[in-house]
Amino acid sequence: MLPEALLLLLHSSIVYAQARQPLSLNNVARISTLNQPFFVIPSVATQATVSVALCVAGSSPRFFISNSSTSDSPGSAGGPDVFEIPLDEGQGSWTGGFPNGGVLGVENPGQTSFEVGLSDNGTLHERISSPPILGDTTSNQAILFSHVFSNFTLDEPSYPNYTLPSANASAPTPPDISKFNFTMFLSPTSTLPDIPKTGCALRAQTSAGRIDREVPWLKDEEGWRQQWFLTGLAPSTNYTAYMVQEGTRVSGPIMFATKSASFSCPLVASLPFCPGIAYSVPLPPPPAAASFYDASTIPDAISAPLISGLANFTASLLTFACGKDYYSPLASCADCQREYRKWLCAISFPRCSEPNPEDPASFTRVPASPGATGLGARPTLGGPQQVFSALLPQPTSATPRNPNFPPASREWTMLLPCLETCYAVDRACPNFLGFKCPLRRFNAAATYGVGYVDTGDLDGKQGTGVTGVSQDRWGNIWCNAG
Ligand SMILES: *[C@@H]1O[C@H](CO)[C@@H](O)[C@H](O)[C@H]1NC(C)=O
Ligand SMILES: *[C@@H]1O[C@H](CO)[C@@H](O)[C@H](O)[C@H]1NC(C)=O
Ligand SMILES: *[C@@H]1O[C@H](CO)[C@@H](O)[C@H](O)[C@H]1NC(C)=O
Ligand SMILES: *[C@@H]1O[C@H](CO)[C@@H](O)[C@H](O)[C@H]1NC(C)=O
Ligand SMILES: *[C@@H]1O[C@H](CO)[C@@H](O)[C@H](O)[C@H]1NC(C)=O
Ligand SMILES: *[C@@H]1O[C@H](CO)[C@@H](O)[C@H](O)[C@H]1NC(C)=O
Ligand SMILES: *[C@@H]1O[C@H](CO)[C@@H](O)[C@H](O)[C@H]1NC(C)=O
Ligand SMILES: *[C@@H]1O[C@H](CO)[C@@H](O)[C@H](O)[C@H]1NC(C)=O
Repeated sequence: MLPEALLLLLHSSIVYAQARQPLSLNNVARISTLNQPFFVIPSVATQATVSVALCVAGSSPRFFISNSSTSDSPGSAGGPDVFEIPLDEGQGSWTGGFPNGGVLGVENPGQTSFEVGLSDNGTLHERISSPPILGDTTSNQAILFSHVFSNFTLDEPSYPNYTLPSANASAPTPPDISKFNFTMFLSPTSTLPDIPKTGCALRAQTSAGRIDREVPWLKDEEGWRQQWFLTGLAPSTNYTAYMVQEGTRVSGPIMFATKSASFSCPLVASLPFCPGIAYSVPLPPPPAAASFYDASTIPDAISAPLISGLANFTASLLTFACGKDYYSPLASCADCQREYRKWLCAISFPRCSEPNPEDPASFTRVPASPGATGLGARPTLGGPQQVFSALLPQPTSATPRNPNFPPASREWTMLLPCLETCYAVDRACPNFLGFKCPLRRFNAAATYGVGYVDTGDLDGKQGTGVTGVSQDRWGNIWCNAG
């Protein structure tokens, strides 16, 4: 038995050892063991954001902020200038003034492990609203793109030196991505772990598949995205993906399904002259050692005519006094070339697909006759509002859509380009070029996916088609937007 005085002394030294931990500005602290439930927030000259993220499942702590010197133990009892940080899927933030500093209190911690960030420039823990996007899948591979992490500003050319990007454009120099430190987490949707969807929790998980290559890519004018090439996936499986930027900023989820085991079209991507193309095409397997086609392996017989066609189109376009005269209040020659490139790429690279394994009947089995109208995004007559993807079976006897592709050795299914990809060229280009899209009320649906994104013909309302988009975040792909 120790004398009482010594016990008291021991006790006070323990309290002393467990003094409140200070948070430092523009830093994320990881708390794995909670010695005592209060953290000291220093005084900050401007508005500051306190953010928290749970790193493990199974605990439901609550977080309270006080930004006044009078409430030094903020909790559910409330008080002046005490605020709860609301959590959404394990993550939350609170922004306000801390002229005299403040205190963060944790209640009901359980066996928790969490991160807390303090920043004077927005929140450090963030749920990024723009989602990642799927390129495409094969039976065991996928191409995924992150949210846009860096904007890209096009330099609009100007008269008299109106220079358009070369037909055989080289890829622009990517921004320095080391500070973004991307990670991605992928899991079969059926076994998605029940964890908080936060950076620290997702990073601690083992991701399905293997990353074959990872590069920043400017897929379109929206901006830079990180592009992942994944292998080692299981066929006919629905996957869920999240992406984490800087360890704390989360985008997702998106879902997508891999193709069935018999699907044989390889992926093609990373073509600087067709930056939007990242999908499977009816080609034989890529040369040994490569798991997909890129600019170094795509056959010249396919790329050379495409580049030559685009160069010829650009030459015709530049006979117009671009930048001096205007053919449209909305579009420039640069817009015209960009939309034409997108369309030419989408029709030059026929896209392979197959019906969604969860809904195998969801496509049109009978090819449209040249006179057909309105095939495509037609909900089943009389039935539930089921939308068919613009899939068209291609028997081996079919004339290849692009004659520069080798004849297919087996039957495959083509995902038709979205008609909007064609209309975008019609809208952006001067009339004298004579570019014409098929009309919906004639035979457009024989060669394009019609009515998915927009309704009606060229003047149809944008985004008011049956699906409003060419693909969604749940893994449905309705037509090929290129
Ligand atoms: C605490 O933050 C709230 C909300 O931003 C603000 O209204 C209040 O004035 C702050 N209190 C102090 C003492 O700065
Ligand atoms: C604040 O954040 C923005 C965007 O998140 C960033 O562009 C800017 O450089 C940051 N400012 C500072 C001083 O870190
Ligand atoms: C890119 O620009 C848009 C609109 O100008 C803006 O809303 C968005 O936050 C920017 N994104 C990045 C990553 O800077
Ligand atoms: C015209 O513009 C291009 C690209 O912007 C530039 O490389 C070239 O030097 C310019 N030529 C002249 C004569 O200014
Ligand atoms: C990137 O993230 C990993 C794990 O999330 C971390 O170990 C590493 O230190 C980070 N790298 C940089 C440069 O921040
Ligand atoms: C396009 O550029 C690449 C690299 O600069 C070159 O290897 C290729 O031969 C070019 N293709 C054509 C058709 O000009
Ligand atoms: C582009 O123009 C040249 C010269 O007129 C022609 O030889 C070539 O076939 C054209 N390219 C395409 C793809 O039509
Ligand atoms: C994947 O699973 C989700 C949730 O069950 C479902 O909503 C989605 O349609 C599925 N995606 C595909 C492509 O089957």
